[in-house]
Amino acid sequence: MNKIKKACFMGLGYIGLPTATVTANNGIEVIGVDTNPQVVNTINQGDIHIVEPDLKQMVAEVVEKGLLKASLKPEISDAYFIVVPTPFKDNHEPDISFVVSATQQLIPILKKGDLFIIESTCPVHTTEKISQLIYKERPELENNLHIAYCPERVLPGNVVSELIHNDRVIGGIDNISTEKAKDFYQTFVKGQLHSTNARTAEMCKLTENASRDVQIAFANELSIICDKADINVWELIHLANQHPRVNILQPGCGVGGHCIAVDPWFIVSKYPAESNIIKQARKVNNYKALWCSEKIHNSILEFQLKHNRAPQVALMGLAFKPNIDDLRESPAKYIVQKVMQSENNANIMIAEPNIEEHKVFKLTNYKEAFEKADIVAYLVAHKEFTNLPQSSEKVILDFCGISNNF
Ligand SMILES: NC(=O)c1ccc[n+]([C@@H]2O[C@H](COP(=O)([O-])OP(=O)(O)OC[C@H]3O[C@@H](n4cnc5c(N)ncnc54)[C@H](O)[C@@H]3O)[C@@H](O)[C@H]2O)c1
Repeated sequence: MNKIKKACFMGLGYIGLPTATVTANNGIEVIGVDTNPQVVNTINQGDIHIVEPDLKQMVAEVVEKGLLKASLKPEISDAYFIVVPTPFKDNHEPDISFVVSATQQLIPILKKGDLFIIESTCPVHTTEKISQLIYKERPELENNLHIAYCPERVLPGNVVSELIHNDRVIGGIDNISTEKAKDFYQTFVKGQLHSTNARTAEMCKLTENASRDVQIAFANELSIICDKADINVWELIHLANQHPRVNILQPGCGVGGHCIAVDPWFIVSKYPAESNIIKQARKVNNYKALWCSEKIHNSILEFQLKHNRAPQVALMGLAFKPNIDDLRESPAKYIVQKVMQSENNANIMIAEPNIEEHKVFKLTNYKEAFEKADIVAYLVAHKEFTNLPQSSEKVILDFCGISNNF
């Protein structure tokens, strides 16, 4: 394969847009494809539709230089990247229909020697299945395409830097595909590129997030136990972590994010009998969000009994983690929904400083919400909230360690 001159990215979301932009910034002509016309228009104006530090400036530059163009349709390129969503269905089975449909759009324009990379998080064996789908329609391409799986492990909020500096795992459907994919990534990745096969790379991505989920479930379970035992869980974890071989993570109001709350199900749904701990961690972390909503509910009842009036309640944060605008699979969003259902929407203020407006939730400025509230429930440790007064007459429910001094 010759040097890649043109790359086509299918999906311009939280992962596709930064990756396409870093590739374009590296001098490769990039066509970025998205099914959402608003996304396409925004990017072609040199703007971005997501909150991600350092990205806007870089997008503006590469669009201005003509290195990145967004479109509703793919164009003939040398390398193709699938970065579309992979949600799960109601029964927690992975839904790879976006990967299939993005691939089907590309099949007619693929040519011998092209690089075809899946970055979307996928269940094990997806890359092999997708290669069979391609070869079925274009048999002449069999053994003439370089197909690999290369998962993403960036931290939202620090994506541009992590895209360049993180190590990556690259698994081709054969050794030559792995090598060709490595050739591409080493043009901009400064971290190490680890070679493996496609199914191990797929399982590696799922394992990373299942591991985080299990560890956070341990911290969340401890927080529920400590609440009952009247022990400060933050102090407890701080003290336990002084052991040289113990490293417990921090509890929160559940587990967020598009990845950690979703990916473990991709293992569980395929290997249900074997994945007991992974399944239980999912249940513990989901239960933590329900537990938080019940705590808020009980606090409201107690206030009503004591003061003979309904309290003003501030629910602080909607995002799945601090300092981002991403609400996907957010436990905070789930808690807000639960509280609003049980309280009949009365006297509830919702603050999310990273979002100006929301289709469903009426947002209140966080300072105003804090000042007016009788009960303040911290759901996400956004930096803005850490500057609010710590000691006050208000009932404070701190589910994310805002006032944690340990
Ligand atoms: N967000 C993360 O932090 C993260 C981290 C690692 C891996 N991932 C994985 O990366 C993949 C993409 O995630 P994301 O967060 O970028 O999703 P996203 O929802 O932000 O973006 C996906 C984009 O793909 C577009 N799209 C859907 N179907 C398409 C098609 N057929 N052709 C072209 N565009 C199409 C959507 O309109 C959307 O803009 C997922 O599999 C996800 O699990 C995400």
